[in-house]
Amino acid sequence: MSWRQRVNLRIGEAINAVLRRAGYILAPLKRRAEYIDAAETITAAAAAGLSVPDYVARLWKEEGVTEQVLAEMEKAGALAHCARTAEIGPGTGRYLAGTHTRVRPDQYDVYELDDAWAEHLAATYPTTRQPTDGETLSGTPDSSCGLVAAHNVFVYLKPLVAFRYFLEMVRVCAPGGYIVFDFFPDEAVTEEILLEWLAFPERYQVLLSRQRVLEFFARRGCHPVHSFDNRCYRGTAHYIVFRRDPVDGASTTGN
Ligand SMILES: C[S@@+](CC[C@H](N)C(=O)[O-])C[C@H]1O[C@@H](n2cnc3c(N)ncnc32)[C@H](O)[C@@H]1O
Repeated sequence: MSWRQRVNLRIGEAINAVLRRAGYILAPLKRRAEYIDAAETITAAAAAGLSVPDYVARLWKEEGVTEQVLAEMEKAGALAHCARTAEIGPGTGRYLAGTHTRVRPDQYDVYELDDAWAEHLAATYPTTRQPTDGETLSGTPDSSCGLVAAHNVFVYLKPLVAFRYFLEMVRVCAPGGYIVFDFFPDEAVTEEILLEWLAFPERYQVLLSRQRVLEFFARRGCHPVHSFDNRCYRGTAHYIVFRRDPVDGASTTGN
């Protein structure tokens, strides 16, 4: 905590001491990312008698999509048991749930900017909510994870934030471990696709050069072992499964 945060905390405590007598207290604002509201979604899922992942899959007409992605990851070997896993932006937890069941890590680090979703995940799944500054994996040690994943996140984060996270994904990935994420490859987005997107109001899509992404990871000892396309809101995102080179060519999986 910085000195400024400590001073603000002290001031807040002093104000609360006075307010409490009148039956009120100050509480920190919850951080909200631009994403579906957690409380509303959790309540609606319960009313429908569904888990949150099943509810959003039905809501978005994406039944079976997470299972397809997990099957591709499994095919690449990325869902083998490992001691530690990290996920960036799990949101509703629809990929986290299936990943956790398959990988069964001792520790599953969650980096989620939206406080309400992060709290829900920590209460629902055996996960560790890590302090999230929006671009680093500061709570996860170097070379500790057999799997580092992000789903539907790098399709809309600013490129520099994405590359900052990419550095971190490489840092925390164990030798022989896997890094998995999707994005919109600049090379695959035709003018036709751009015009299709422009016909709708949202402007969330961010394009990254596939070549640059591949070279960035290759320079850091991570090579693609599998890739596939997947539906992503009004578009097709491209997944790459990278494997970090095992140390000295050894066959360790970082598990
Ligand atoms: C489009 S949603 C995808 C959620 C989930 N992975 C899925 O596929 O359903 C993006 C998620 O990333 C979170 N997020 C946005 N920016 C982030 C950042 N810089 N670091 C960590 N999480 C972030 C949002 O709160 C949201 O939960």
